[in-house]
Amino acid sequence: METIIEAVQRKYSNKSGQLEFQVVFNDRVGNDFNTLFASLPEHGRNYFAAAVAASFYGRVFPSSSIHIAYSSAALNWLSKAPEGLTVEGSPAWNGGKIHYSGAPDAVARAYEQQFEEDMEMFFRCRAQEIAAGGLILIIMAAVADTHCQHRVAKMLTSIESILIDMVKEGVLSQERVDSFNVPIVFPCVEDIRRLVGKINSFEIVKMEMIKGESAMEGGTETAVMHIRAGLEGTLTNHFGNEIVEQVFVRAMQHQQKLHFAQINTSTTGVFAVIKRN
Ligand SMILES: C[S@@+](CC[C@H](N)C(=O)[O-])C[C@H]1O[C@@H](n2cnc3c(N)ncnc32)[C@H](O)[C@@H]1O
Repeated sequence: METIIEAVQRKYSNKSGQLEFQVVFNDRVGNDFNTLFASLPEHGRNYFAAAVAASFYGRVFPSSSIHIAYSSAALNWLSKAPEGLTVEGSPAWNGGKIHYSGAPDAVARAYEQQFEEDMEMFFRCRAQEIAAGGLILIIMAAVADTHCQHRVAKMLTSIESILIDMVKEGVLSQERVDSFNVPIVFPCVEDIRRLVGKINSFEIVKMEMIKGESAMEGGTETAVMHIRAGLEGTLTNHFGNEIVEQVFVRAMQHQQKLHFAQINTSTTGVFAVIKRN
């Protein structure tokens, strides 16, 4: 946010009067906002800070009240796992798997459909909240094309194999795994472009691929910690603390076997600047 504010200050440096900035942080209600506020710089902060706890797949702010919105590494999370994945007999039944990675086409299509609905909802809500001429900046994980597998998606299959081992050992029931799917997608850039294009209120100013997070390149242990940071909450809600602890102990023990390191897949993302007409 500091970088964005500095850019705006530079742009308006010739204008008379001091600009004031209000940053409103947004995350779901379960987020630890106390830690967020405690981590903000105590001195020299050039903005007023506030927060709204709500899903961005609904309205979060009053009409035309936002000049710049920044969504960082969040739009990969769907509003929910797609319907049908847990319905035995449905074409998208995803028994024994926890994601579309390595799953039948119908499962991938169900995820795509959910992503499409969610993106539409996200942009319809932002269209009301962002003032005319305002911007949305987005950074999210993405792949160059649909044949490319994102590294995090590949890691999910490793977590899946640990869960299946635990089923075989009787630690966990098959039903528990069958009824769980991670609500996360790694869309291809062209799909994101198409979905934004569907909403008339916005125009894409810039959309480019970026190299993935450096945390993913710090070796297998870092990779396991990274995926734990991202997934622990979702896994714990479904499986409980004890199971999740075991999953990550096993992930650390079997890093090599689970080929967290040798995965030769994309760690890319997309950066987009989108303008409200
Ligand atoms: C990988 S973290 C990124 C956190 C932070 N934006 C950053 O860049 O460091 C993804 C965040 O998105 C939040 N998130 C996911 N779905 C959301 C939703 N529907 N509404 C609001 N926040 C959401 C999660 O709670 C999580 O904190």
